[in-house]
Amino acid sequence: MPASDGKRPGRERRVGAADRRRAGDRRTITRRRRLERRNEGAWQPIVLEDIAAGPTDTSALVAAAIDARGHARARYSGFQVGAALETDSGEVITGCNVENATYGLTMCAERVALYKAVSEGHGVFTRIAVVADTADPTPPCGSCRQLLWEYCGDVEVVLANLSEVKRRLRLSQLLPLPFDARLLE
Ligand code: THU
Repeated sequence: MPASDGKRPGRERRVGAADRRRAGDRRTITRRRRLERRNEGAWQPIVLEDIAAGPTDTSALVAAAIDARGHARARYSGFQVGAALETDSGEVITGCNVENATYGLTMCAERVALYKAVSEGHGVFTRIAVVADTADPTPPCGSCRQLLWEYCGDVEVVLANLSEVKRRLRLSQLLPLPFDARLLE
């Protein structure tokens, strides 16, 4: 005979499961709404400040990055990038992105230039130019920012496309509050 209050163990379990399902549905709906909200305004580029000082002639550095971009191996993304890193003695070391069928082993143009430069004995850098064929500037990815900070410090970052310089800023503007060797002391 069923309990008069209707609280049979089986029924209780079913209600509990239904409650959990409802809560789960609510969570899914909330999450979906949140994602919709995030998509609603569409992605907005970060406003980047232009730097006030520094050498103004970026043409040779950008030209070197454009040349390097011509060597990009970007068959998977179709997104070719060139980078040119300038040393304190005015030497320019270039790089392009090199992709791989495993995708994850892809190396960005900035890091190719950086590793080339470091491996050739360069240690002090002033500027890096990054070039892609895009209307908006193409800033270095997070990994590149971290690596550039480690080996170049607060260098000037020149972001250009094939026809013009879009932004000039300091690396510290792209990587505020960095984690670096000072925090290991
Ligand atoms: N990429 C760069 O080489 N540098 C950047 O600053 C952004 C992204 C490359 C990596 C990958 O080969 C392709 O662009 C698409 O992400």
